[in-house]
Amino acid sequence: MATSAPRGGLFGRVKPLDAILATAERKSLHRSLGAIQLTLFGIGCIIGTGIFVLTAAGAQKAGPGLMLAFVIAGAVCIVAALCYAEIAAMIPVAGSAYTYTYATMGEFLAWTVGWALVLEYAIAASAVSVGWSGFFSGTILKETFGIALPAYLTAGPLALGGAPGGFINLPAMVIALLVTWLLMIGTSESAKVNAVLVAIKLGALTAFLALTLPRVNMEHFNPFLPAGVFGGFGTGVGAVGAAATIFFAYVGFDAVSTAAEETKNPQRNVPIGLVGSLLFCTVVYILVAAGAIGAMPTGGQPIMGPNGVPFPAGSEELARQCAMPQFKEALVCSNEALAHVLRTIGFGKVGNAVGYAAILALPSVILILLFGQTRIFFVMARDGLLPESWSKVHPKWKTPYVITAITGVVVAVAAAFLPVGQLADIANAGTLYAFLMVAVAVMVLRRTDGGRKRAFTVPGLIIVGPLTILGCLFLFFNLPTAAMLVLPIWGAIGLVIYFLYSRRNSHLGRGIIEVPEDYVDQLEPTVAGVGGEDAGR
Ligand code: ALA
Repeated sequence: MATSAPRGGLFGRVKPLDAILATAERKSLHRSLGAIQLTLFGIGCIIGTGIFVLTAAGAQKAGPGLMLAFVIAGAVCIVAALCYAEIAAMIPVAGSAYTYTYATMGEFLAWTVGWALVLEYAIAASAVSVGWSGFFSGTILKETFGIALPAYLTAGPLALGGAPGGFINLPAMVIALLVTWLLMIGTSESAKVNAVLVAIKLGALTAFLALTLPRVNMEHFNPFLPAGVFGGFGTGVGAVGAAATIFFAYVGFDAVSTAAEETKNPQRNVPIGLVGSLLFCTVVYILVAAGAIGAMPTGGQPIMGPNGVPFPAGSEELARQCAMPQFKEALVCSNEALAHVLRTIGFGKVGNAVGYAAILALPSVILILLFGQTRIFFVMARDGLLPESWSKVHPKWKTPYVITAITGVVVAVAAAFLPVGQLADIANAGTLYAFLMVAVAVMVLRRTDGGRKRAFTVPGLIIVGPLTILGCLFLFFNLPTAAMLVLPIWGAIGLVIYFLYSRRNSHLGRGIIEVPEDYVDQLEPTVAGVGGEDAGR
């Protein structure tokens, strides 16, 4: 279907909501998901490298204040989740924040959001790949087979924040390419597989809590805030600096919002699924931080620089300190934080089991993130903002294989050379921008289209909306300077592409509003069984 549309100025190219919804109607997915399934799906997307690995970086930034950091980051995500719930239930189509922005604030801002989502999804997939690599090298190779891979194959170069002697993170690169391949040939994760993986992750975290909490030494919580609440602008340390990094541990919940269209009684179940999974993870994360810091014989205080400020996580200086014998066992130096804690307190076998749980479960988080990225690129290509040839669907696999391959290579290269903490910070910068724009979109839509039926309405949007925006800005400005700078630099590259290519080729700009007849049949979102057979269709 093609109709004419106004070409519009910079902010005038707003995609009519009805055209977007026509696509969704064509999908008409069966409403089969209940609150529990949705919550499990959320937990499946959320728990990953953040808690299993970044606990170490968080402790280096805030010491025991990491617990407060989990509260702050969790609170920002919960208000953002409410905004996602309203707009996702209203515009239940592929493309997430990009589509919501296109429908409310127009193509130009939608492009910036789509461009920022590359950081949220692709770079986050790289971060999780690097997290996986730590467990692969530590638990499988070292602990199980007694093989120590040389440093130049397990970390990026020191100059980029890797380890001394590091050059390329081979396991991270391999897992990223492997998951890309699985996605290309059409692998999807059923609801049953998701439930099993959630059980494995929760089993590992429960075992961790059961063994560490009874051994907590309260003295380890003093000082509680060794780097203060605010560590200083651009330093990325202190409780809020740690919150800005550990925010990564919550990323992925927005995937739940994409399932709104397939949820029974969405008014009740979408917010329960989103907020329920986040609240649950927040409580678990705080307890895990308490267990790790309290039970480690050496506690979880940061390694301080000469000026009394913690060495930046992922920095060359910290890597050098961690190579010294006195810090060999330090929590803040570990690449597989939770397994390391258990091994150190005398539960080597359980520590390895936690490592295996991470090795099994993290690839599914990579899969979900890569999946999200390819579908966003796919929608952007379909809108003419990226080359249409990218959205080619493979005749046999029924997947957008060109885009998947391009994304996979980028993810693998980033994973090969950058450390997990930096990747997570960069992913967070992009995610915070997308969350902020979603909150703005919800508020704009209430004004411009207040009469349209909403399956879920945010209570007190007048407070929740601005709180989300302020929370995102607050966390963003507490990221380390380098991560903060990535967003405008990446944005500037995006703008050049927009004005040289996308603006001219945009379908909307050329007067075409397409509601493709067949693309939805070609591509079915089947991650976690959402839309898959296991979801009961
Ligand atoms: N929240 C996800 C993780 O921690 C991205 O791995």
